[in-house]
Amino acid sequence: MSLPAFGLGTFRLKGQTVIDSVRNALDVGYRAIDTAQIYDNEADIGQAVAESGVARSELFITTKIWIDQLSADKLVPSLKESLRKLRTDAVDLTLIHWPSPGGAVPLDDTLGALADARAQGLTRAFGVSNFTIDLLDQAVAIAGRDAIATNQVEISPYLQNRKLAEHAREIGIHLTSYMTLAYGKVLQDPVIQSIAQRLNATPAQVVLAWALQQGFAVIPSSTKRENLASNLLARDLTLSAEDVAAIADLDRHERLANPEGLAPAWD
Ligand SMILES: NC(=O)c1ccc[n+]([C@@H]2O[C@H](COP(=O)([O-])OP(=O)(O)OC[C@H]3O[C@@H](n4cnc5c(N)ncnc54)[C@H](OP(=O)(O)O)[C@@H]3O)[C@@H](O)[C@H]2O)c1
Repeated sequence: MSLPAFGLGTFRLKGQTVIDSVRNALDVGYRAIDTAQIYDNEADIGQAVAESGVARSELFITTKIWIDQLSADKLVPSLKESLRKLRTDAVDLTLIHWPSPGGAVPLDDTLGALADARAQGLTRAFGVSNFTIDLLDQAVAIAGRDAIATNQVEISPYLQNRKLAEHAREIGIHLTSYMTLAYGKVLQDPVIQSIAQRLNATPAQVVLAWALQQGFAVIPSSTKRENLASNLLARDLTLSAEDVAAIADLDRHERLANPEGLAPAWD
């Protein structure tokens, strides 16, 4: 399975807002959609996809299992509920959204349930999200490196997550960058803006190209058709080594997604 390098994020978007975002995204060429049980928008996305006329076989749909559904008895039924809402027989990728807080549900059980779900044809692949180096090593030890399709983590110019990124590269685990744009914050950065101006690109394109060039998949979200369309063109932008180095200097270890009671002990 190859994981698409560019997809659509849908966190915070619900109802008509997410329906419009998905419709516009598919219209301008997106073929991958990232959702999660906790986003409470799977049914809206299912509706938007159904109405789009794009064949299911052309799409790559990712969902994420919420922390209260990680046990062996709950995971498969909850994934089936996601499939019903998404109006599909199978998703392409299912992620553990956050590691079970305090290790309440053993990782063994959850990865076993995900392997069962895959064997039953409910998901083509599975992976993890918000996993630290230690948790990622545990997942690889349990399921095998080739079974973990990606670790979806926060990576932006302001939170470059280098320790984890280097480790993932060493052990051959793919990373997906979420909140690549730091929810819009990095687009105001003077360094990013000056690179964008010189390259006749948008700040968002510069940041997305920076992430893509490191081999990360990206899943930026937008409610605006013109942003959706222009963001996708980041795939055609190549940054010089100097520009990449200038962005490397922007790291300030500023984490935006750090929910209390949920976040693991970050690297
Ligand atoms: N696994 C996890 O725990 C986790 C956590 C967080 C997020 N995620 C996933 O990652 C996705 C991306 O993260 P995110 O949505 O939080 O943040 P993001 O993609 O970093 O930023 C989205 C924000 O940037 C703005 N934006 C996008 N393109 C723009 C452009 N070209 N020019 C100006 N502004 C632009 C959007 O505003 P407009 O609507 O105005 O364009 C929106 O406010 C999520 O949607 C979700 O699917 C996963």
